[in-house]
Amino acid sequence: MIQNNVNLKPFNTFGIEAFAAGFAQFSSISDLKSILENNYLNQLLILGGGSNVLLTKDFDGLVLKNEIKGFKIIDETEESIIIEAGAGENWHEFVMKCIDNGFAGVENLSLIPGSVGASPMQNIGAYGVELKDVFHHLSAFHIESQEMHTFDKEACQFGYRESVFKTIYKGQYVICSVAFELSKSPKINTSYGAIESELKSKKIIEPTIRDVSNAVISIRQAKLPDPKVIGNAGSFFKNPVVEESLVQQIQVNYPDVPNYPASVGRRKLAAGWLIEQAGWKGKTFDTFGVHNLQALVLVNYGGSSGNQVYNLSSEIINSIEEKFGVTLEREVNIL
Ligand code: FAD
Ligand code: EPU
Repeated sequence: MIQNNVNLKPFNTFGIEAFAAGFAQFSSISDLKSILENNYLNQLLILGGGSNVLLTKDFDGLVLKNEIKGFKIIDETEESIIIEAGAGENWHEFVMKCIDNGFAGVENLSLIPGSVGASPMQNIGAYGVELKDVFHHLSAFHIESQEMHTFDKEACQFGYRESVFKTIYKGQYVICSVAFELSKSPKINTSYGAIESELKSKKIIEPTIRDVSNAVISIRQAKLPDPKVIGNAGSFFKNPVVEESLVQQIQVNYPDVPNYPASVGRRKLAAGWLIEQAGWKGKTFDTFGVHNLQALVLVNYGGSSGNQVYNLSSEIINSIEEKFGVTLEREVNIL
């Protein structure tokens, strides 16, 4: 069941070569338990679609790829429905299934790569919606006690690209299923400017959830590189949330700096804009670089190491700090 010395290149969307001392897939909790019982390697890494990781070295432990499937209705009212999906389901296929069934709420999150199980990890978000807006609860296997625990929304402490699974419980749980509360009558969210203009260009006045999904897919395909063609993990950095006073300082030289309301006294800046202004957009260094259509995305054109990409990210962080006084934080999980 456990394979040794496995190349992880096909299992990460950056397409980076790194070897795992042990590798196994599991498709049920009992599978997982029996792998762990016989496991002689201490270190564990749970992998979904590998679309939010950067492998900077070989992994001297056991990589477990989550393949738990399932899509079932667990509760229903006239207005809403609660769907439980297996952690190993592909996220976009899950979204498509919801749309096919007329269940609204996840359409703005179309075409995000990866698995259902990783979606709560960083509270995935796009085009005006975050996972927390549709999240009901999740079931996770606690590795040390071998017990199943249930987490409701409050227990997950979701924030912008954050949850307890990235912070206090990092590495302690295997998320096995996620339950979503979706609406039977669509509440269309076209608040993100780009969706409105995309719908307008298609002359759609009263969009359905599928229209919104198609609009999101078109916008994403126009600027985000397809990992099947160019290795990447989406936004490499988070959009920084900074003091209002710093935004005002930047506005002296850059009156058009994009910025959005965040918490009281703080605003969110667009990291892609900062990186572009600092001259990084489209820069290529042999086999890796900064994407030419979206400066927030670092890319591997083939054959680069995780360290080369990591070092580029450090250079970008230093340059943005120097130019704008803003500290960028990596969004991608560095392994
Ligand atoms: P992986 O990369 O396999 O894992 C990510 C982390 O979660 C790792 O630390 C891993 O150990 C942990 N993990 C994974 N599964 C489990 C589990 N079942 N239990 C416990 N821990 C687990 N993200 C957004 O939020 N919004 C976007 O718009 C977006 N766009 C993207 C576009 C592109 C082209 C790409 C390549 C990525 C994009 N991402 C985006 C990032 C990525 O798709 C998401 O973070 C996604 O949820 C990662 O899923 P995964 O299954 O690939 O996770
Ligand atoms: N911008 C530039 N230059 C660039 C990129 C962006 O000037 O090269 C400007 C845009 O013109 C716009 C602003 O930055 O004014 C925001 O750009 P965009 O709408 O493309 O979104 P983003 O902030 O770059 C975030 C998420 C994406 C998510 C999109 C849509 C983060 C870190 N990234 O990107 O998530 O899909 O919004 O909601 O929050 C991911 O997490 O991997 C990811 C792709």
